[in-house]
Amino acid sequence: MSVAVPAVSRRVGAEDAAEAIHIEDLHKKFGQLHVLKGVSLSARDGDVVAIIGGSGSGKSTLLRCINCLENPTSGVIRVNGEEIRLKADSHGNTVPADRRQIERIRSRLGMVFQSFNLWSHMTLLENVIEVPVHVLGVKREEAVALAEQLLARVGLAEKRDVYPAFLSGGQQQRGAIARALAIQPRVMLFDEPTSALDPELVGEVLKVIGDLAREGRTMILVTHEMKFAREVASHVVYLHNGKVEEEGTPAEVFGAPKSERLKQFIRSVS
Ligand SMILES: Nc1ncnc2c1ncn2[C@@H]1O[C@H](COP(=O)(O)OP(=O)(O)O)[C@@H](O)[C@H]1O
Ligand SMILES: [Mg+2]
Repeated sequence: MSVAVPAVSRRVGAEDAAEAIHIEDLHKKFGQLHVLKGVSLSARDGDVVAIIGGSGSGKSTLLRCINCLENPTSGVIRVNGEEIRLKADSHGNTVPADRRQIERIRSRLGMVFQSFNLWSHMTLLENVIEVPVHVLGVKREEAVALAEQLLARVGLAEKRDVYPAFLSGGQQQRGAIARALAIQPRVMLFDEPTSALDPELVGEVLKVIGDLAREGRTMILVTHEMKFAREVASHVVYLHNGKVEEEGTPAEVFGAPKSERLKQFIRSVS
């Protein structure tokens, strides 16, 4: 019998770690379009949850609900144990019950999107300190010190005073990761962070994300980089048509997929 060695050692004892994200029976409709059909998912501190699935399966919508960029139609989302409170507005749409709670929840989440979203009128350093200084009230010197550390960590120390237009796509995306980390989030959310990059720039961004994963950073990562998901994830969720079709360890999901759809999906992307 072979003994499975966890790819990421911090997973040992992960069952005892605190719950970072908990989602239960989440539904999201856009008008008649039922996009999320009862998704449940959870991540404990230190987990790296990879979400895979075909285009249109609801992956981005799921992440956007966690970050309160979309309001779910029904279901439960807890971030570090705090449940997002929603209410119905006068049109019957679900809206946040407490804006301040939404700000609090968002301050625990660092989000990195598919396309580089650095602010173009600010230097890289200004991008990284903007939210800490102007939203979270961190002292400028402290924010700059942290930003310098973070930029060094993503390999961009010497680019601190450069505007995004003068950075490659890979550098911009690494800058966006530094910016997301600058709020010292409890959980990082990545939505296909490399899918808009030229192929030769994908590796440098995956390297940064992989390092964060190995350091024990909690993350939920939507990706179509299957080899990478297999390497860094502690848990893999395959979303199909708004539902969790299959989930498990990377070895289970990639090595021994059960559903015919997942088998087909893995064949189509590898
Ligand atoms: N704001 C929106 N309004 C209407 N439909 C949307 C909206 N956002 C996403 N959708 C639809 O929801 C479905 C799932 O989209 P998405 O979550 O982006 O999928 P994925 O990220 O897996 O490709 C798609 O059919 C998409 O067109
Ligand atoms: Mg998407």
